[in-house]
Amino acid sequence: MGRKKITLVGGGQIGGNLALLAAQKELGNVVIFDIPQAEGMVKGKALDLMQLRPHDGHDSDIVGTSDWNDVKNSDVFIITAGIPRKPGMNREDLLGINLGIMKDVASNIKDKAPNAFVIVISNPLDAMVYAFHKVSGFPKNQVVGMAGALDSARFRAFIAMETGYSVQDVTCMVLGGHGDTMVPISRLAAVGGVPVTDLITDKRLKEIEDRTRVAGGEIVKLFGNGSAFYAPAQSAIEMAESYLRDKKRVIPCASLCEGEFGIDGYFIGVPTVIGSDGVEKILEFTLNDKEKTELDRTLEAVKRTVAETGL
Ligand code: APR
Repeated sequence: MGRKKITLVGGGQIGGNLALLAAQKELGNVVIFDIPQAEGMVKGKALDLMQLRPHDGHDSDIVGTSDWNDVKNSDVFIITAGIPRKPGMNREDLLGINLGIMKDVASNIKDKAPNAFVIVISNPLDAMVYAFHKVSGFPKNQVVGMAGALDSARFRAFIAMETGYSVQDVTCMVLGGHGDTMVPISRLAAVGGVPVTDLITDKRLKEIEDRTRVAGGEIVKLFGNGSAFYAPAQSAIEMAESYLRDKKRVIPCASLCEGEFGIDGYFIGVPTVIGSDGVEKILEFTLNDKEKTELDRTLEAVKRTVAETGL
């Protein structure tokens, strides 16, 4: 069996880190695709990464291109194409510009690699993953959005920072849309199996939830130009790895719900099993009344951004 082929559509900040992580994990050969104006940049990144290989001893081949023919038969696509948020811009402001880009990317991927597993990162995520699915016509198991993996990692990081205990032992999930209405499920968060509600006061936990909801914006403000890239890249790589290695990890992802949690026809963050069939299953569980109300609220926000796509 030959190496797998992973194409990164968009070779900017997140794309470059995706290439590094995919190569270091030896997930397969990597193609970094970008627009012709950025071809030199992605060719340069690819060459730089090829020259890092001797230290790491990994054998993935990494190339940069702006030719769609080079992405043929890719097993996985991770899409970051678009423009990132600027200060004062919310994810929804990006919609108009990134929608046009996503439509173009979806039709090219459909043409060149109709069986690929596709992870969408571009913002506003809930609308972009919906648009990709609509335009490509791909089956729902082949399309997923990266949001919950990142939002949950942020929640985990903040709980570890608060308690001082190993982040490795912190488990938690954040459901819903990838915006300020996301739903951190504190009731089920734990450190080494001990409920965080027994470790952190209600007041502090509420503050941590609030910080999680705006964690992307906190970094946008600090940068002044651009948005987070290390953690987003790692989050998507975890999803790609679970697919390529059939790990069947349970990761909160923006998956197409068809009745799960009472949601129908929308991509929204839900606990998702990712294995060699792509999105294999959404794991439903009973929400309490407060969580249900919050999920309804975030669904309304997702519906609004999806409506703006006109798709
Ligand atoms: N096809 C391929 N690549 C494109 C296209 C296109 N049609 N249009 C733009 N790009 C490329 C840009 O040239 C750029 O290199 O997408 C890349 C985006 O990279 P950055 O601007 O560095 O953005 P990044 O920080 O990587 O974030 C990408 O992910 O989290 C989201 O909000 C973020 O939507 C943004 C995306």
